[in-house]
Amino acid sequence: MAQPLESSSATRPQGSAKKEKPYWVEPLITMVVLGVWVLYSLWEIFFHNSGTYQNYISPYFSPGVGKWFGWHLLDGLYVAWVPFLFRFSCYYYRREYYRGFFWDPPGCAVHDKPRPRYSGETKWPLAFNNLHRYAWYLAFIVLVFLWKDAVQAFFFKNGFGVGIGSLLLLINAVLLTFYTFSCHAFRHMVGGKKDCFSCDGKPTTSYKLWNRVSSWNVFHGTWAWASLASVWAADLYIRLLSMGVIHDVRLF
Ligand code: FES
Repeated sequence: MAQPLESSSATRPQGSAKKEKPYWVEPLITMVVLGVWVLYSLWEIFFHNSGTYQNYISPYFSPGVGKWFGWHLLDGLYVAWVPFLFRFSCYYYRREYYRGFFWDPPGCAVHDKPRPRYSGETKWPLAFNNLHRYAWYLAFIVLVFLWKDAVQAFFFKNGFGVGIGSLLLLINAVLLTFYTFSCHAFRHMVGGKKDCFSCDGKPTTSYKLWNRVSSWNVFHGTWAWASLASVWAADLYIRLLSMGVIHDVRLF
């Protein structure tokens, strides 16, 4: 097992070591949560053809691309690859699953194996992660549909109303919006793809936009986990409704 570098603990103030959790706790939690989420998602996408209940549509199945073209098999598959590509090429998740699944290394200041031929993300399959900026555009299109679904979730057969499903889909759209617009690649885009702002001499609009997105980007990891949980919760709720296991609770 990897060992923490001595130098990191040597520079730590005395007495603080006891308060820190072991370096392997975070990657282990990541591995369990992401692993269960991936298994759940595969079960949902490959074993169900629809994720709808009345006016609710699960985020895994929106937009219903399969239905547009009359394809009735594995409807979730036509669209679910977009958020998957977006999440798994996300800079934040990369750090998390490189640590959690590859354990390579599992944390900062932890010894890594010497790797003379390490090519990082310059070669297949990790080079695939360089598609992240393009995945952002696709994820943005999906996000627009998720907002449409969130609004639609408040309009039942008998008119406007609020159900638990309406709130879950709304919260999901909000959290995904924060996740999408706090993205590192999006910040780079609005910043004009520059490497040097001070070279412009005075603050430009792109610099101000870059600064604004930076303030959201600080919490990108929080939005990443919160939106993962909201997608999961919204889908599970709609799945249980469609299976007749639970009944929708209408608040009014
Ligand atoms: Fe996480 Fe772009 S860096 S979504």
